[in-house]
Amino acid sequence: MYKMNPDYLIGIELMDEQHQVLFGLMEKAQALLKDENILYKYDDLTNILSGLKDYTQKHFSEEIQLMESVNYPEIEAHKLAHQVFTDKINAFGIDFEKISLGTQDKMILEVLDYLVDWLKTHILDCDKKVHIFMNK
Ligand SMILES: [Fe+2]
Repeated sequence: MYKMNPDYLIGIELMDEQHQVLFGLMEKAQALLKDENILYKYDDLTNILSGLKDYTQKHFSEEIQLMESVNYPEIEAHKLAHQVFTDKINAFGIDFEKISLGTQDKMILEVLDYLVDWLKTHILDCDKKVHIFMNK
């Protein structure tokens, strides 16, 4: 469902490669949601979240470096969007502390919904604009 497909490519190789990592994490979250053999999913969910944190730290800073190198005009707004995402991922970590057997699947869905939304609003729009700018 969340496999990388050509629609999600923005045309900048480094960024497309890094976005692939996000798809991998989304696939993991989806597999975890469907897995009926794992009773308590807290550890796996926490692993996915720490993967997201590691990924965004590296990816966002490289993306911003690229924008700086081409004098991209909307860099401040882009940085702000990255900060909102980072804050949300940290907030999920706090929510996870209250997780229970009855709420864990709802929590995984919430994370997935947020990542799908991010994919549509950020990667397919804001990140793509960088490519358009670079090819003007
Ligand atoms: Fe971005």
